[in-house]
Amino acid sequence: MKIKTEEITKSDILTDVLNGLSKSPKMLPSKLFYDEKGSILFDEICELDEYYPTRTEMQIMQNNIKEMGELLGEGTMLIELGSGSSQKIKLLLDHIPGLAGYVPVDISSEHLISSSKVLKDKYPHINIFPLAADYTKYFELPLIDKHYDHRAVYFPGSTIGNFTKEEAKEFINRIADIAGENGGLIIGVDLKKDKHTLEAAYNDSKGVTAAFNLNMLNHINEELNSDFDVNKFKHFAFFNEEINRIEMHLVSEDEQVVNIDQSNFSFNKNEHIITEYSYKYTLEDFENIANDRFDVKRVWVDDYKLFSIQYLKVKD
Ligand code: AVI
Repeated sequence: MKIKTEEITKSDILTDVLNGLSKSPKMLPSKLFYDEKGSILFDEICELDEYYPTRTEMQIMQNNIKEMGELLGEGTMLIELGSGSSQKIKLLLDHIPGLAGYVPVDISSEHLISSSKVLKDKYPHINIFPLAADYTKYFELPLIDKHYDHRAVYFPGSTIGNFTKEEAKEFINRIADIAGENGGLIIGVDLKKDKHTLEAAYNDSKGVTAAFNLNMLNHINEELNSDFDVNKFKHFAFFNEEINRIEMHLVSEDEQVVNIDQSNFSFNKNEHIITEYSYKYTLEDFENIANDRFDVKRVWVDDYKLFSIQYLKVKD
């Protein structure tokens, strides 16, 4: 199994960090959460009582997987964006009749190698074409030397919520290009709900989300040899009701200066760095994001309407 690699480099990270910290308010891109420790912390978040999205999405998949597989249909080349080691993909691989192949796309080649090996052992008959790439940027599919009927993109976890609305529209339009003629999209979309449930999910009582947020500074220190003092920042997350998004921030507990690659960044006491947005959609709002290029064909939700999985088809 050959892995195609288009990984992000240190200089991409440096550019993102310098640009982000030059903004007002300061920002850092949420993809920098995911070094090895950050990925482990994220897996722990997914197990937390307060963090409802992962288990709810899994439950919706389990309850509707037969219909999902049939809608995707014979001869599907399935492309997963941000493939982890998740159980969800196994459900799909098990239920798409006559699946033509699977293209996992992940930013971490290590993750990709290990998870593709596990899948190859479990599904020796499935053609796997792994691609190590930052799917938030333009990328090209690997060479697929296998006949298939149509492509379908799988984008679970409500990661679409981590894009701003404009970015989400642009990204969904790009997914339409990747899916191509007759293509489909199965996407997980977290739904708008009461502030209390949302804020609990991003301020868990065990402090795992706080550790996940702060770890971004360790990650940057390791990549760029910078000198963030992680003990001088604290986690802050709240639901911005006007804009329907969770905002994760890091707050400087003191006046301080951080050095990154010969640039100094000053922080006032209580100054915030925005590290992540997590938009929560109504079904109508999400349809407006998708409907330039896609028709929403089917929406599955749980009994409490916490989360949705949607099947979209590229418009003719
Ligand atoms: C990956 N993404 C969908 C998660 C979310 O809920 O927005 C990331 C996360 N941030 C804090 N907890 C989880």
